[in-house]
Amino acid sequence: MTDHLTIVRHPLVQHKLSLMREKDTSTKSFRQLLREISHLLAYEVTRNLPLTTKRIETPMCEMDAPVIDGKKLALVSILRAGNGLLDGILDLIPAARVGFVGLYRDEETLKPVQYYFKVPTQLDERVTILVDPMLATGNSSAAAVDLVKQAGASNIIFLCLLAAPEGVARMKQAHPDVPVVTAALDERLNEQGYIVPGLGDAGDRMFGTK
Ligand code: URA
Repeated sequence: MTDHLTIVRHPLVQHKLSLMREKDTSTKSFRQLLREISHLLAYEVTRNLPLTTKRIETPMCEMDAPVIDGKKLALVSILRAGNGLLDGILDLIPAARVGFVGLYRDEETLKPVQYYFKVPTQLDERVTILVDPMLATGNSSAAAVDLVKQAGASNIIFLCLLAAPEGVARMKQAHPDVPVVTAALDERLNEQGYIVPGLGDAGDRMFGTK
């Protein structure tokens, strides 16, 4: 993955995303669509993983069969909305190792503060996919990348569903080495930091908390 930003323009991804954006889509449908779209995004984000070969025996003969090289992937979810993407990705990559980053925004300093952090060991030898559906201001995403880098990760991809130009710019400035993969780049952020046109609060919509 060489470009800093990859937009997954596959028609199925775009169609499902439009259904998710609609304000009257139920929690049940939103969750189902998120799961389906996660499968498609997982397919895209793993497109360039290195392959090696392994000697196997088919019922016919021996062969050198392609398998993914290196240690198991690390999937790191930014709580809480990251968990919606995580579930679907795990359907496709069930052996991945999983970590969680919890951040809240300090109301005085407006800076992200860590309240939970648990990630797989040997991150330096794994591809780490950091997941959060909404790349809005990019402040918490950039802070989460800082934390996984401090834990040893150096091969990191940031996967989201929707990105705002402000968030993409913030990530590029803070972490130019971390590619961002998204289903759409929206117009802007509003005064409350929500992505417009967006889909509202991703956590509330997937967990039905509003
Ligand atoms: N987080 C959300 O859930 N939605 C946005 O639009 C921005 C951040």
